[in-house]
Amino acid sequence: MMENGNGVCAVDIQAVEKVYHSKGRQPVQALKKVSLSIRDNEFFTLLGPSGCGKTTLLRLIAGFEQPTAGEILLFGNRIEGLTPYSRSVNTVFQHYSLFPHMTVADNIGFGLKMLKIDQATRDKTVSEMLSLVHMEDFANRMPHQLSGGQQQRIALARALAPHPKVLLLDEPLSALDLKLRQAMRLELKQLQEKTGITFVFVTHDQEEALAMSDRIAVMSNGEVQQIGTAGDIYDRPSNSFVADFIGETNLIDAEITSQAGAISNCDFPGGTLQAETITGRSVSDKVTLTLRPEKLRLSTAEEPEQGRMMGHVVERVFLGTDTTYLVQISPEVTLQVREQNALPGATRFDVGAKVSVAAADGATRILEG
Ligand SMILES: Nc1ncnc2c1ncn2[C@@H]1O[C@H](COP(=O)(O)OP(=O)(O)OP(=O)(O)O)[C@@H](O)[C@H]1O
Ligand SMILES: [Mg+2]
Repeated sequence: MMENGNGVCAVDIQAVEKVYHSKGRQPVQALKKVSLSIRDNEFFTLLGPSGCGKTTLLRLIAGFEQPTAGEILLFGNRIEGLTPYSRSVNTVFQHYSLFPHMTVADNIGFGLKMLKIDQATRDKTVSEMLSLVHMEDFANRMPHQLSGGQQQRIALARALAPHPKVLLLDEPLSALDLKLRQAMRLELKQLQEKTGITFVFVTHDQEEALAMSDRIAVMSNGEVQQIGTAGDIYDRPSNSFVADFIGETNLIDAEITSQAGAISNCDFPGGTLQAETITGRSVSDKVTLTLRPEKLRLSTAEEPEQGRMMGHVVERVFLGTDTTYLVQISPEVTLQVREQNALPGATRFDVGAKVSVAAADGATRILEG
């Protein structure tokens, strides 16, 4: 798959498995037949819960671990024999590990020195990197004289200085507070665009993944669940794990009661919703529906109709920009509804209020898995 000019992708992971063996313990299968292709110049994110194998995959690409089975190609070349230092890949770890006894400038120049790059070129690159991360005035500081966010930027500058073809980033923002993390997201994205280096970014934070990535691989339990753009994954999740992990969603057990071409009518206790027909699912099949809370609307309408269900508010949570309601529409089904607070005069429903819940057209999807 895709492809720099020569039809070669940056990182090609082919049916890679990893089993960890340790004495006196059951073997741990950290990765099961993982295949994915990362394009040149791409901001690619590995997203999944703790323990799903993200760091393991990164360490295999970096060369700190060897796969138990399968292959990894970097720009079309097999890499299994190559040491981490001869792979044109650099890593930024979760805890920025700057050399404490070296100045900022020496930290950034360290990799270049190892590559035997001459002093003048090194100085030039160091100052370019400092300006890239907006820290021109910090060249002579020691790491302990920097804030967490500043240290993280220097760690990035250090990893970028030798201009690797691929930069691996393992939860690099997780030690920072929320505000700083949000600011750094934008900076990282811009840095990737400016340098054109392929970024492989690891996170368990779905918001971070959605905000920065060209494409995302959602992982769970050592397997890739879905690969796609943020829009693909959010709007067209392929299974309930992805639907539930990315953002908030309502998962509803339903049955297809009729189909008219592209439209399937799905019944469940308390309502009927229409969804796009998917291949392999026909009348009387049990299915799971996914319906995002922000695609539901509350009103005082009294009559149920297609796409509208009657219920009552059982909980209300104020979240600043939004309010989340839980609306029970039957003993079996309670829906989460998210309404924006910005609109003046928007009705606020109290706990106990009788309401109707309407789904936007096209909002209900049948999950494949
Ligand atoms: N060196 C090791 N020896 C044995 N098991 C390991 C080793 N490293 C990781 N594991 C196991 O492999 C699985 C995947 O671990 P990994 O570190 O790749 O997860 P992760 O997705 O990065 O999680 P987190 O988000 O918590 O960093 C886990 O079950 C972990 O316990
Ligand atoms: Mg990890």
